Order: sequence, then C-alpha cells, then structure tokens
Amino acid sequence: MNSIRLRSLPHLLLAFVLTFAGIQQASAQDAAAVKKEGVTPGATAAATPATAAAPAAGGGDAAAIAAGDALFKGNCAQCHAVNEQVVGPALGGITKRRPISWILPWVKNSSKVVASGDDYAVALFNKFNKQQMPSFALSDKEITSIVAYITSEEGKGGVTAKNAAATDGKDGATATGGAEEGAGKYVDILLIVLVVVLIVLVVTLVIIGNLMKDVLRGRKDLDGRDIEILEQRFDWSKFYRSPVLRGIVGTVFALVLLYEGVQSVMAVGLNQGYQPTQPIAFSHKLHAGEHQINCAYCHTSVYKSKSANIPSANICMNCHAQIKTESPEIKKIYRAIERKQPIQWVRIHNLPDLAYFNHSQHTQVAGLQCQTCHGPIQNMEVVYQYSALTMGWCINCHREMPLNTKDNKYYDNLVKLHDTKNAGAPFTVSSNGGTECSKCHY
Ligand code: HEC
Ligand code: HEC
Ligand code: HEC
Ligand code: HEC
Ligand code: HEC
Ligand code: HEC
Repeated sequence: MNSIRLRSLPHLLLAFVLTFAGIQQASAQDAAAVKKEGVTPGATAAATPATAAAPAAGGGDAAAIAAGDALFKGNCAQCHAVNEQVVGPALGGITKRRPISWILPWVKNSSKVVASGDDYAVALFNKFNKQQMPSFALSDKEITSIVAYITSEEGKGGVTAKNAAATDGKDGATATGGAEEGAGKYVDILLIVLVVVLIVLVVTLVIIGNLMKDVLRGRKDLDGRDIEILEQRFDWSKFYRSPVLRGIVGTVFALVLLYEGVQSVMAVGLNQGYQPTQPIAFSHKLHAGEHQINCAYCHTSVYKSKSANIPSANICMNCHAQIKTESPEIKKIYRAIERKQPIQWVRIHNLPDLAYFNHSQHTQVAGLQCQTCHGPIQNMEVVYQYSALTMGWCINCHREMPLNTKDNKYYDNLVKLHDTKNAGAPFTVSSNGGTECSKCHY
C-alpha cells in the first residue's frame, strides 16, 4: 500500500511542475501580446489623427477633416474644445444648433452678427459676459473644414479626442502612454495571479514533503544513515555564524556604498529631476495636456528668440478673468496683479552663464519638439527637469542629429562641400561645427 503511494508521488510532483511551467509560459506570451497590441494602436492613432477621425464622419472627406484639425488647433483651440466649455462654448453639435450659413459670417466677424441683432448671437454674447470672439480671415472652405473636423470629434470620450489631436510640440507620447498604462495594469494582474499560484505551490510542496517523510518514517527497512537524513533539521544558528555568509553580506554592502558614493560625486552640479514647488498650483497637464493650449501661447518667444519666456499674469487673465474666478489658486493671480508684482515662479532649468543656448535655433531652425529636451511636459502636474543639461548631453545630440537642411538655402553649399569630402556620412550638427567650443562658450 505504502509503496504504491510512494511511487505515484514523483508523478504528482512532475505534473505540478509541468502545469506551473505551462501557466508561466502562457502568461509571458499574453504579456508580450498585450504590450504589442497596447502600443501599436496608440502609436498609429497619434501618427494619423486624420484617418482616426475619418470613420466618425462616415469615412468621407478625410482630407477636409485633417485640414480642419490643423486650422482648429491654430486658431480656435485656445478658446474652444469640441466637447467641453473652455473660454467659448463647446463646439460639438454646432451644426445642429446653427446652420452653416450662420456659422460662416459668425467666424469671419462675430461682432457684426451680434450688432445685426441676431437673437441667438446676442443671447450667446451676453451669456459669455460680452466677451468678443476675434474675427478670422478664413475662407468658406476653411471654415467648413473646421466644422467637418468638429463634427468628426463630437461625443468622443475626452481621451481619444485629445490624444489624436496633438498640438504643437506634442508627439504621440500621450496616446502611447495611455495604452501602455492599460497593458501595464493587465501585466500587474497577471503578476499577482502568478505570485498566488507560487504560494499555493510552495504550500503544496511542503505538505507533500511532510507526507513523504511520514510515509518513510512508517517503513521498517531504513538503515541508520537514511534515518539521519530523514530527521535532519536545518541549523539556522550555524548558518548565521558561517564566515561565507558574512563575507557575502559584507561585500554586497560595500559595493552598494561605493556605487552610491560614485553616483553622488558624479551628480554634483546636476539638477536632473529638480521639481520645486511653485507659488501657484499651475498644471501643465491641465493646460497643455487636457485643454491643449499651445506651448507658444504662453511661452511666446520660444520660436523667436534665445529664451522661452515665462508668461506674465496678464496671459493667465485672458482666460482666468472668466474661468474659476472663485478658486483660491486663481485669486493668487488677481492678488499679484493688484499689487503690480510678478508671480514668483521658481526657475527650474538653468545653464551656467558660461554656456550659450538658443531656443529658436533648436525649435524653429532645427524643428525639434519641446519634448525631445523637456520630456512629456503635457503630462506633468508639476514641471521637473527631464534632461541632464550637461555638456555631454548637448554634444551627444550634436554628434548624432542630422541637420534639417531642407528648404534652407543657407545650407545648400555647405551640404555640397560636405558630400564631396565625406561621401555617405550624414551631415550632422557637428559636421557643421556644432561641437566647437566657441559655439557654446562665450
Ligand atoms: C479668444 C477666444 C476665441 C477664439 C480664438 C475663438 N472663439 Fe469662438 N467663441 C468665443 C466666445 C467667447 C464665444 C461665445 C460668444 C461670444 O461671447 O461672443 C464663441 C462662440 C463661437 C461659436 C458659437 C457657438 C455656439 O454654441 O453657438 C462658434 C461656432 C465659434 N465660436 C467658432 C469658432 C471658431 C471656428 C474659431 C476658430 C477659427 C473660434 N471660434 C475661435 C471665443 C473664441
Ligand atoms: C497656460 C500657459 C502655459 C502653457 C500653455 C504652457 N506653459 Fe510651460 N510654463 C508656464 C508657467 C506659468 C511656467 C512656470 C511655472 C512652472 O514651472 O510650472 C511654465 C514652466 C515651463 C517650463 C519650466 C521653466 C523653468 O523654470 O525652467 C518648461 C520647460 C515649460 N513650461 C515647457 C512647456 C511646454 C513644452 C509646453 C507645451 C507642451 C508648455 N510649457 C505650455 C505656462 C505655460
Ligand atoms: C487659454 C486659457 C487659459 C490660460 C491662458 C490659462 N488658463 Fe488656467 N485654466 C484654464 C482652464 C480651462 C482651466 C480648468 C478649469 C476647470 O477645471 O474648470 C484652468 C485651471 C487653472 C487652475 C486650477 C484652478 C482650480 O482651482 O481648479 C490654475 C491654478 C490655473 N488654471 C492657473 C493658471 C495660470 C497661473 C495661468 C497663467 C500662467 C493660466 N492658468 C492660464 C484655462 C487657461
Ligand atoms: C534642444 C533642447 C531644447 C528644446 C528642443 C527646447 N528646450 Fe526649452 N530649454 C532647454 C534648455 C537647455 C533650457 C535652459 C536654458 C538656460 O538656462 O539658459 C531650456 C529652458 C526652457 C524654459 C525656461 C526659460 C528659459 O528660456 O530659460 C522654458 C519655459 C522652455 N525651455 C520651454 C520650451 C518650449 C515651450 C519648447 C518647445 C517649443 C522648448 N523649450 C524646446 C532646452 C530645450
Ligand atoms: C536633441 C538634440 C539637441 C540637443 C540636446 C542640443 N542641441 Fe544644439 N542643436 C541641435 C541641432 C539639430 C542644431 C542645428 C540647428 C540648425 O539647423 O542650425 C543645433 C544647433 C546648436 C547651435 C548652433 C550651432 C551652429 O553651428 O551654429 C548651438 C550654439 C547649440 N546647438 C547649442 C546647444 C547647447 C548649449 C545645448 C545643451 C544645453 C544643445 N545645443 C543641445 C540639436 C540639439
Ligand atoms: C554643444 C555645446 C557645447 C560645446 C560645443 C562645448 N561645450 Fe563646454 N559646456 C557646455 C554646457 C551646456 C556646459 C555646462 C554644463 C553643466 O553645467 O554641467 C559646459 C561646461 C563646460 C565646462 C565646465 C565648466 C564648469 O564649471 O564645470 C568646461 C571646462 C567646458 N564646458 C569646456 C569646453 C571646451 C574646452 C569645449 C571644446 C572642446 C566645449 N566646452 C564645447 C556646452 C558645450
């Protein structure tokens, strides 16, 4: 009887191990599949907002919608969103409220429509505290395409509409991030399930081990050595006192200390990750992310000059004269204006005076996205320094980044000269002298 049970035990164990291996492999594949699925649709949706929006409009004029998308962002997005009120009303459903023959003259010159005594226009104008919408020199076709874009975005759950509509300086980061988050949650659940399975397995193995010992103890034909092995207990006190263990722990401790020491010495003067608390709880996630306000609406000089200015309180007032007037955070803006004192924002990025950095050279001329250097600002509640801002960081990019020479006559001859001298090598910033000391040091 006993011997039968004993012989079947190894089989039982083997079955357990195989089942476990099976579960593990399956979940690893799942995780991989989820990752793949999660990332790809997000990325494509971000890359092609026009096609993503097309089905909603009946698959028709994708080109018009794409054109409308760009026009909307360039002209209207600072005051309007499709599905929520910003400075002006939510524009979703506008074609149901008003005929296109009303919308066209309204966008071209809204005050004229109000002045004509149009009931709807007058009521709306009063409802929005007599705030005048600017006039736009847009053609009928352009306005129609904006309306087509608005219709295609109607009723879309905030997230997709906002992600697809990448404004200036926003690459696919938002959309992909969201998808990855979803996949991440799924993987987390799988991991928890795996841990539970593991615990169950360990408990089962201990039970089986004890069972086997019991069975063996019941046998009469064991010799002294077998019994010794059977009754052997692990001697913890001996284990703690063993020099090998002490050696290993000591070495690991010393290595960790050394690593931390080297890291902190290397990080002297490095402010990567610096995230001070600001005097007003201003959120880029809310303004640049959710409400899609163009970076340059506030950082007005970022495409034109050396530095990207921080907006004055007046720029905040363009909106906050009306929005959230009762919020204690917004009242701080009013107080600053009353006292005629600027808001004391804490500066985050700051190169030493010995280095010269120019924004317009990088944003306007090179066409780099803000996020390349500043990271996903549109997701930050509080801004932090994303890049190291060391000399090595500048130089690495200059060595690798090909120059944006297209349609820039200044570079035509230089490119020819470079190509005859180093055929095949890319024309990088450094080929143009971008790593010479004097370019960055006065
Ligand atoms: C500076 C802010 C601002 C900008 C920019 C702006 N609007 Fe407006 N818009 C408003 C305000 C405010 C109203 C509400 C009416 C009023 O107070 O004049 C409004 C009303 C409207 C309405 C009527 C909405 C309704 O529910 O009946 C339409 C349509 C409209 N805007 C379209 C546009 C389009 C298209 C653009 C871009 C070409 C644009 N707006 C740009 C502020 C703006
Ligand atoms: C509504 C106005 C507004 C918009 C839109 C806006 N910002 Fe800002 N930004 C601010 C204000 C105010 C500060 C200073 C307070 C702070 O650091 O949060 C700031 C700070 C920053 C800083 C840190 C400056 C420092 O002290 O070193 C960076 C970088 C930045 N913004 C980048 C961006 C980018 C990129 C975008 C577009 C994705 C953007 N901002 C959109 C208002 C704005
Ligand atoms: C183009 C319009 C616009 C501009 C410019 C703007 N904001 Fe806002 N702001 C908004 C909108 C929209 C909200 C969200 C209101 C809501 O949640 O209902 C908001 C919300 C806020 C909030 C959160 C208020 C609360 O209690 O929930 C703060 C703080 C804020 N803004 C500060 C600023 C500061 C500081 C500036 C200037 C640097 C600024 N905003 C410029 C549109 C703007
Ligand atoms: C090539 C990298 C790079 C790109 C691209 C870039 N920045 Fe910067 N940004 C920097 C550096 C470096 C500083 C610190 C400059 C200094 O201290 O003189 C900085 C500083 C800032 C500041 C603080 C004010 C200032 O000028 O010192 C703001 C605001 C800012 N950037 C916004 C933006 C916005 C908005 C964009 C996109 C339109 C952008 N940046 C694109 C590298 C970059
Ligand atoms: C992400 C890539 C990137 C980073 C990071 C970067 N740059 Fe650049 N930089 C460029 C590109 C691309 C150009 C070429 C622009 C053009 O077409 O003239 C450029 C051009 C320049 C120029 C003009 C060079 C010339 O030949 O006239 C200077 C100066 C400069 N960068 C300084 C800096 C400094 C200082 C830093 C670090 C604080 C920095 N850059 C970081 C990409 C970068
Ligand atoms: C692409 C721009 C760029 C070029 C080219 C460049 N530097 Fe720098 N350099 C910087 C920046 C930015 C800093 C500041 C970095 C920091 O604070 O960590 C810096 C810092 C330094 C410092 C350190 C100063 C200090 O206080 O730590 C020295 C020294 C220096 N550079 C020398 C040189 C020399 C020599 C060359 C030519 C071989 C050169 N640099 C070329 C951007 C550049």
